[in-house]
This record gives sequence, structure tokens and C-alpha cells, in this order.
Amino acid sequence: MRSGHPRLDLEGALIARDRVGIQDFVLLDAFTSETAFLDNLKKRFNENLIYTYIGTLLVSVNPYKELGIYTKKQMDIYMGVNFFELPPHIPPIIYSCSYALADNAYHAMLTEMNNHFFLISGESGAGKTEACKKILQFYAVSCPTSSLLDSIRDRMLVSNPVLEAFGNAKTLKNDNSSRFGKYMDIQFDRQGEAVGGHILSYLLEKSRVVHQNHGERNFHIFYQLVEGGEEETLRLLGLERDCKHYSYLVQGECRTVRTINDKNDWKTMRNALTIISFSEKDIEHLLGIVASVLHLGNVQFEADRDGYARLSNKAELRWVSKLLGIHVQVLQEALTFRKIEAKTEEVLSPFSVDHAIYARDALAKALYGRMFTWIVNKINDSLENRDSSKKTVIGLLDIYGFEVFYVNSFEQFCINYCNEKLQQLFIQFTLKSEQEEYEAEGIEWEPVQFFNNKIICDLVEEKRAGIISMLDEECMRPGDTTDITFLERLEERMGSHPHFITHRLADQRIRKTMERGDFRLLHYAGEVTYCVVGFIDKNNDLLYRNIKDMIRHSKNGIVRHCFPPTEVDSKKRPETVASQFKSSLAELTEILMAKQPWYIRCLKSNEAKQPGRFDDMLVRHQVKYLGLMEHLRVRRAGFAYRRRYEVFLQRYKPLCPATWPHWKGEPAVGVEKLLIHLGYKEDDYKMGRTKIFIRHPKTLFAIEDAYEICKHELASKIQAKYKGYRVKNEFQKQKEAATKIETCWRGVQARKERERRAWAVKVIKKFIKGYMTRHEASTTDNSEYLTFVRHSYLTRLKNQLPKTVLDKTTWLAPPPVMKEASEILRKLHMRLLVRRYVRGITAQQKAQLQLKVVTSELFKGKKDSYPQSVTKPFADTRISEHDINANVLQIIRHERIKYSTPVVKYDRNGFKPRPRQLILTQIAAYLVEETKIKQRVEYSSLKGISVSNLSDGILILHVALEVKQKGDLVLQCDHIFEALTKLSVVSNKRNVVKVVQGSIKFDIKPGKEGYVDFSSGHEATVYKANNGHLMVVSSRSKSR
Ligand SMILES: Nc1ncnc2c1ncn2[C@@H]1O[C@H](COP(=O)(O)OP(=O)(O)OP(=O)(O)O)[C@@H](O)[C@H]1O
Ligand SMILES: [Mg+2]
Repeated sequence: MRSGHPRLDLEGALIARDRVGIQDFVLLDAFTSETAFLDNLKKRFNENLIYTYIGTLLVSVNPYKELGIYTKKQMDIYMGVNFFELPPHIPPIIYSCSYALADNAYHAMLTEMNNHFFLISGESGAGKTEACKKILQFYAVSCPTSSLLDSIRDRMLVSNPVLEAFGNAKTLKNDNSSRFGKYMDIQFDRQGEAVGGHILSYLLEKSRVVHQNHGERNFHIFYQLVEGGEEETLRLLGLERDCKHYSYLVQGECRTVRTINDKNDWKTMRNALTIISFSEKDIEHLLGIVASVLHLGNVQFEADRDGYARLSNKAELRWVSKLLGIHVQVLQEALTFRKIEAKTEEVLSPFSVDHAIYARDALAKALYGRMFTWIVNKINDSLENRDSSKKTVIGLLDIYGFEVFYVNSFEQFCINYCNEKLQQLFIQFTLKSEQEEYEAEGIEWEPVQFFNNKIICDLVEEKRAGIISMLDEECMRPGDTTDITFLERLEERMGSHPHFITHRLADQRIRKTMERGDFRLLHYAGEVTYCVVGFIDKNNDLLYRNIKDMIRHSKNGIVRHCFPPTEVDSKKRPETVASQFKSSLAELTEILMAKQPWYIRCLKSNEAKQPGRFDDMLVRHQVKYLGLMEHLRVRRAGFAYRRRYEVFLQRYKPLCPATWPHWKGEPAVGVEKLLIHLGYKEDDYKMGRTKIFIRHPKTLFAIEDAYEICKHELASKIQAKYKGYRVKNEFQKQKEAATKIETCWRGVQARKERERRAWAVKVIKKFIKGYMTRHEASTTDNSEYLTFVRHSYLTRLKNQLPKTVLDKTTWLAPPPVMKEASEILRKLHMRLLVRRYVRGITAQQKAQLQLKVVTSELFKGKKDSYPQSVTKPFADTRISEHDINANVLQIIRHERIKYSTPVVKYDRNGFKPRPRQLILTQIAAYLVEETKIKQRVEYSSLKGISVSNLSDGILILHVALEVKQKGDLVLQCDHIFEALTKLSVVSNKRNVVKVVQGSIKFDIKPGKEGYVDFSSGHEATVYKANNGHLMVVSSRSKSR
């Protein structure tokens, strides 16, 4: 591989090999097997992989469908990127290899500042022109450009529709078949900008203008003009909008084609003319020529009486005359007479009808052919870069591939000759580059076994001895020369040539496959049998002199330019077509030899132009005729694979412990270690200066397979490591996050705590200050404290309030500020208790209380046993009426008994105790002994009642003496307070009771007094003392 092609990637091919076949045929093990070759192509084609390499040669199989691989995105992928660098997720399937090749060439050009070319070949319909357009588009879109250069770029792009309109036609093989060869140079400046272009055209198939085979069409432009031309244009050109009307357009009986839209194409072409700066005049003249060809085709002749040609209708001729600016008479004469120059004069010799038709067609062909050349020149003018600084160039050669038809004529001869020349060029290039590389790498050059087609090139083109020379000679030889005489001369001169055979020279077996007028050449790509009929004529391509003479006077600028007067005046015989072709090929070879080659070989997948169909036979045929096997053999003659040590080591270093993961030493040493580790023999590879050369693909595949396995293991390891790393990372992150959150939270807490403390300090300070100033008038300092004190006091007070009215001791001592309030509250609370109490007492209780009030008034603070009596409730009576004697009751009932109680009556004289009943009525108190009323004391006569201050129950009723029959009563009653209170109330005598200390004097009878003495002692007793007094001792404890 040349050092200029460093970017093509074999490794990518290795990856894809199992799934989609081998991406580079160089790696095909059975590289001599056509079947293996085809199988690989087919396998890939079925996967829509239309591109396969043979080293730097790209084989492209026409898919006949849009693959969506020529997008801007695709271009971006390829721009400046090595395949090897492409991300692995972009499967190699979608690679548009033509872009890859284009980009590689472009970068090689920029880095090495040298020129390159693409040789695109293949048979008709194989996709050459499409490939060429794709490359052009790639450069147009991907190269840097400035606004000035935009127009060059646009012109370059639109030159295609113009050239295709005039140079392409529908054939049986291809709806858009280029009927000329094209070589286009794209010029780049040092910055890589496309700054200009130049086109060379080869051998336009002019015969198509006047004749088309069935199912074919004339050049597109005619149909475009008739179908798409504006009404006014057609009117000026005298054309009708009907292709049927023109005999040059009807022969193929195929005016419309499904895949072609003439109207739209017309618009595109017309627009393109403007962009390429064709002036309006140019366009007018150009269309004038196109139209005049159509009119010419309709010029018909008939035989006059003498059998000479005569125009049957002049209308069409008039249009030709008008459009070409030639007098109609002159035109008519030129088409029906031939000017013969005798010694002194010119004689007009009339044409036969056939001759006239021949002359007419010759004129049409010449007009069209030269117009085409003029267009190419015009485009070149507009693409020309007038800046003289150094340019580098990328050339695109879209040229007819090898052609083999059932009948092969002069055109096929020229075309196949062209292919021989290109094959020769290729061999020179490839061998040269291989050899150079071997030398550069210091590897011994092993002679490559391949077929060198120089012998065939010589057979065709050798000066004076080649077929072309002979054809020219035959064309120029005076006398009757025919195609057959030409054939005979060939047989004569080259009968013994190993690549040349004629019917006569052939052996019996071969002769059966040939006609008498045939000769066969054994081309490098196979045998082709040519029929000599038409060779002389086509080679001469003569235009009668008087026609040339006539036409140069045309008023149509383009025509005048195309037929310069010098041509007519020159006596020199014009160069024959074959010679012209030969010299143009020689020129082309020279052009190409100075450049680095890139090859694209286009193959047709099937004849029916159907997508997805792979016709084995057809492809095999093309593989053969394009010399692909030959090419592969040359490429594979030595070593199948070579790579720079660094690249090789970089890829395969994981396979050897010594080189993995890093090799520190020289890459070459590393590679050798690697290969020894893998156990390869010395013959399997060679170590060059900078590259490793591997002889057989299988060696490489074995390494690749090992690498594939190793890669998975490595991937798992890396995956595991990565996962670990990720999880660790994640953990770390979470931990950090947790710490952060913690810190923040702590911060928040701490701030809260600080605020709380600050608040507390403030509160405590205020509290202390408040405490200290608690006795002062309310200020801001102590108001809160005081509020607190109040609140606290009130809260405590609430829980400790006295529960009963009688509880006068329980009252929470107030703080000084609450003294007043406390007092008010206490009163309020007392009132509340009282109120509650009062509300809660019944009428009975009330009466009882009223009595108790009376008792209190009588005895409180006077008699010792009083306090104990307070809590004892008073009974209504102590003796029920049943227990009172009925007689007694009888006597006193009318006075209404209010109260009665048992008492002890002490006799006034002896103080003998006697049980009695004391009954109180409304009017009097009765002392009753069983059935007898012993004494009645009316209240009005009751003088007083005396009791002691001690705890005894003695009471003395003092009776008024005037009514006194029996004297005062000394009684003892257990319910003394109750009985005396009742008596006081019933008798309505409040102050009648007297509490006496020491001793009470009483009247025994008028004038006789007795005494009762009171004292307290251990035991309560009543007895008559020695002094005659009644001694009453009350228990001390009782009084306590
Ligand atoms: N890469 C491609 N992708 C899709 N279709 C294609 C491709 N190449 C070619 N074709 C189809 O095949 C047709 C013929 O291609 P093209 O005109 O390029 O052939 P050619 O080799 O130039 O033939 P000729 O020698 O007759 O000029 C195209 O019109 C297009 O329909
Ligand atoms: Mg083409």
C-alpha cells in the first residue's frame, strides 16, 4: 500500500468480516477463486453493503435503490476521520465508502501537496456517473469555502445537469447513460478550497443524434426542449410540443421514460445554463442548433426523374436556414449536391437520395458533436481559476467500462482500447507502488505473477504496426478501400499475434463462433469479437467539403465558432477518429501518470435495474471484464496485510503479557515479541522498517479472533472495574451528600439552640432585673416579671382556693404586688362560697341555722361546751307525741306543742334527781311526770334562765314569784343548747338566758333560796354538797 493511502482501514474490515463478509478482498483467503470473490460480493450486497475494497480500489455494486447513505450526516462522519477512529457503534454497514475514499484522497492531497485522481469504470448503468456525482457533492459540501468560491462550487455542481442533458441518453442498459467519456479536474488551493475545475470529454456517441435503437432515446436535451421549453421559445424555434413530430426522436419508439421527468430536467438545465454564465445570446444560439438538428431530421428527400435527390418539402429546411442563419438555397444545395474539385473548376455532382440522407445526418451529427465540445469549453471557461498560484488537483475519470455486445463495432473497439490503456496504467501504478513499498521497508521484492496487458495495448496502438495505424492507413489509402480490405490487411500484418484472431485465422472450433467479417481481440479482460462493418466510415467521420464550406458562413455564433474557416481552408486531411482518440488517451495517460490513483470499479447487479437482485452470471462477467481478479492477484502477490508497527501493536497488544497494557520499548520489538508469543513462524510474516507484513489473511484472522476473545475478557474486566468505580463514586457522592446534609442540619440545630439560648439569656436577664425591681413601679424592666408573678400567683392560687365557707385559714399568701388584688379576690371568693352555700341550703337547714344563730347569740363565748354543740344539728323534738301521756296531751294540745325533751329535775329541797319531760308549747313550758303535769310555767312569768359557763347541762328556770307556787326549777338536760334556744324562740324572750360563773342562786319557795355551785373536775358529777348546795362538777376535758 502506498504511503499516500494511510487512512483506509483494514481493522474495521476485520470486525465486520463474519457478519457481512470481508470488507477488503485483500483479506480473502481464496484470493484466486472467482466464486469466493462473488460470494463475498453477494453476501455484502444482500446486506445493502454495496462497497467492498481491494486495497485502495473500491468495488461498488449498483443497488438500484436509495440507501440513505449519502447524507450530510454521513459526509460529516467521514470528514477528516479515519475509519479506525469511527465510534464502534456506527456499524460499518452504513459507511458510504465513496465518501471515505474521497476524504482520504483529499487529505492525502492536502498533506502531501500532490495530485490525485479517481478512476471510475464499469459497464453502462453500473453507477459510474452516480459515484462521480457523489464524490463531487462530497467535496462541494465538505471543503471549506468562501462566498467567492461558492459560485465555483455551484458551477461545478450544475455542470452535471448540463453535460447530462446534452451528453446522456436513455439506452437499453441505462436510463441516464453517459454517451461520452469525462475527466474532470477539481482544483484546490493550499487551504483545501475548491477554486476551479476543468473538464475533458471523450468520444461523444454522435451517431445517436440520427439513429436510436429500439427502446432507446436520443440525447435528453431534445426531449427536454420539446416537453419543457416555454411556448415562446418553441415558437421562435419553430418547434411543436410533440416529440412524435420529429423523426430523429421517434426511431426508438420510446419518447417517455418512467424514471425521467423531462419538464423538470429542462428547468434544472435551463437554470444551470444561467449559473454557468451562458449569455442569453449563447442560449439562443445553442437552442437554435438543437432545434435545427430536429428540423434537419425532418428534411425529407425524394428521387427525381434521374434518380437524384430532391427536397420533398422545404418548410423544415427554412427553419434550419433561419436558425443557422444560412441562406435556404445554399443549404438546399449543400444537402443535395456534392462539390467535386476538378483541376481548375468545381463541379457540382447531385446526390442520390441515400447520399443526401447521409449528408444530412452527417451535418446533424457534426453540428451536435461540435456544439457539445463547445459546451464543454464554455463550462471550462466558467470554472477556470485565473489565480496562478500553485494548485493541487483531484481528477474524476468517469469513463466507459469494458463493453461486450452481441455485435461489437468501432465504438466498442475504441472503448475497450481505452480500458486496456487504463488497465496498463493501473498495473504500472500498482506494481510500482508495491515495489516502492517493499523497497522502502527493506523487504526483498518477490516478482509478482500477473498478466501484463501491454502486449494488447501495443497491438492496438503501436505506431505503424498497430490496428489503429492500419485503420488510418486504410482510410487514407487511395483506391477502393472497404471494411473488408481493412480486415484483410489486419490478417496480413498481425496474423501471428497471440491476441488477434479472425475468422480465417481461427481453428475450426473458434471459427464456428465468428462471422467472416469479424476479428477478435483477446483483451486482458476477455475476448471480444468486433465486426469490421462501419470501421472505415466511422473512423473517417467525414463531412462533405461543401457542407463544411456552407456551414462556416452560419450566422449562429456557436456554429461559426465550431466550424472555423481554417479547417476548410486547410488542405491537410483531418485526423481520424481513432487517432484522435488515441492521442487524447495518450494525453490522459500522461495526466493520470502524474497523479496518485484511486479506483472505483462499478458493477451492475442485474440487467433489469431492479433493487435487491444480484445476478451471479452478470456480476461474474463484469468481475472478469473489469479485471478485478487480476487486480486482487497483483495486490495479494506478496503480503496480504501490512501495518505500521505502532498501529498493529496498539490493536493487538492485549494478546501478549509482555506488551499489555503498555509497551515501553520500540514498537517493532514489541510486535516481534507479540508474534513469537502467538507462535507464528518466520515465513508467516516479515518485519519491515516501519511495518509488519503478514503473508496470509488466515494468520491475521487468527490474531483477530484471539483479539476478539481477549477483547471480551478485557471488556468484562474493564466493566467490572468501571462498575466498581461507579458504585464507589456513587457511594462517595452519597456519603458526601449525607455529611453535607448532616452539617447543614447540625448548623440549623446549632443556630436554633443559639437563638434559644440567647432568648433564654434575655428572658433570664429580664427575669432577674424584674425580680430586682419587683417592688418598684411597673417599668419595661419589671413589667414582664410582675406579669409573671401575677400569673404565677393566680395559677397557684387557683389550685389552692379554700373549699368551704368555714375554711378561713387557707389562702395563699400573695406576693406584694398582689396584696390588694389578693384581698379582693379572697373576699370575692368568700362571697362566692357563701353564695354557693346559701344557694345550696334548704328551708329546713335555714330554720336550723336561724336557730343556731339564736344559740350563738345566747352562748357564744359564754359557755364552755358551746363550740361542740355548733356542729350538732337540732332536732325538732326529742320526744314524739306518742311518748307523751295522752292525758297530758289532752290538756296542753290546744297550746300547740313546739318542743319536748327528757330532763332530770332536781328537787328543790333534797336535790333528788327525778326524770321528767319538758314540753314547750306556744304559751308555756310544762314539766311532766308520766301522766301528770308537775309544773306549768307560762312564758310571761318566766323571769329568767340561768346556766353555768361550764360544760354541764344544768339549767335553772327562774319563775316570777307572784305566780310561783312551787319555786324555781333546777333541771339537767342533755340537749341544753337546743332546749334553751327553742325555749328562747318559743317564748320570744331573747335575753332571758344568763350565763353565770361559779354559783347560781335560785328560789326554792318565796323567801327561801337555794344554790347550785359549779366547778370542773375530772369526772362530771352532781351531788348535794355539805353546804346544802347542789354541786355540779363538769368534766374538764369536755370543756376543752
Ligand atoms: N450508488 C447508487 N445508489 C443508488 N442507485 C444507483 C447508484 N449508482 C447507480 N445507481 C442507479 O443506476 C443508474 C445508472 O447509474 P449511472 O448513470 O451512474 O451509470 P453509469 O455507470 O454512469 O452508466 P453509463 O456508462 O451508461 O453512463 C442510476 O441512474 C441510478 O438509478
Ligand atoms: Mg454515466
